[in-house]
Amino acid sequence: MAVHWYVGVTGSGKTTRALQDVADDIRKTGWPALVIDSQGVRLLASIKHRKTWKEVVRDVWIERKNSAFIPRDAEEVGAVFSVARELGKVIILLDEAAFWMSSRSMGPKAIERAFRTHFHWGGGKGGIIRSTTQHLADVAPVAIQCTTTIKTFRCTSARILERLKQEFQYNPDEIEKLERGQFIEKGSGF
Ligand SMILES: Nc1ncnc2c1ncn2[C@@H]1O[C@H](COP(=O)(O)OP(=O)(O)OP(=O)(O)O)[C@@H](O)[C@H]1O
Ligand SMILES: [Mg+2]
Repeated sequence: MAVHWYVGVTGSGKTTRALQDVADDIRKTGWPALVIDSQGVRLLASIKHRKTWKEVVRDVWIERKNSAFIPRDAEEVGAVFSVARELGKVIILLDEAAFWMSSRSMGPKAIERAFRTHFHWGGGKGGIIRSTTQHLADVAPVAIQCTTTIKTFRCTSARILERLKQEFQYNPDEIEKLERGQFIEKGSGF
């Protein structure tokens, strides 16, 4: 149903906020959360981690409970997104997305396809993606093009500020001045 981005420098508060929003999604939809903990961060340790993506898929779509894992490679991330596209009714938190979908490596097509088709997951049942990144300028354009909302925290890199200005009409001066936990949100239409 939606692709939500969280962008900002390290320590700006992206993952904290994304996790709060996922908790809201769970309350509203009754769907479980599937957490792709790209870097193994302490904040996400509160969600039970599994060793393999297959165990995660079982937790989420058979047991219907929240589950997390640290992917070994982009193929595992792609595999999870393929199942999500097939079955829907899931909230995916993809932390540090640029790890798996930078425009240089592109990552597996399955991730890209899942982003583009989020409306149709599970034959129209839908799904929610909440995705964080410190490296917006490196994320593949297709993943940015299907943004529903973006919460921008403090950013300092010239490339990222430029991309935020171009794609979402942000004012770079405002973005550079944001304090920890502060963000400016833009929605569809930007
Ligand atoms: N609204 C807030 N007010 C005060 N402190 C906050 C707020 N949001 C997050 N923090 C604190 O800031 C620190 C960094 O938060 P968080 O891990 O969410 O940042 P991040 O942007 O995801 O960083 P990284 O890119 O390194 O993953 C944490 O210690 C967190 O508790
Ligand atoms: Mg983070």
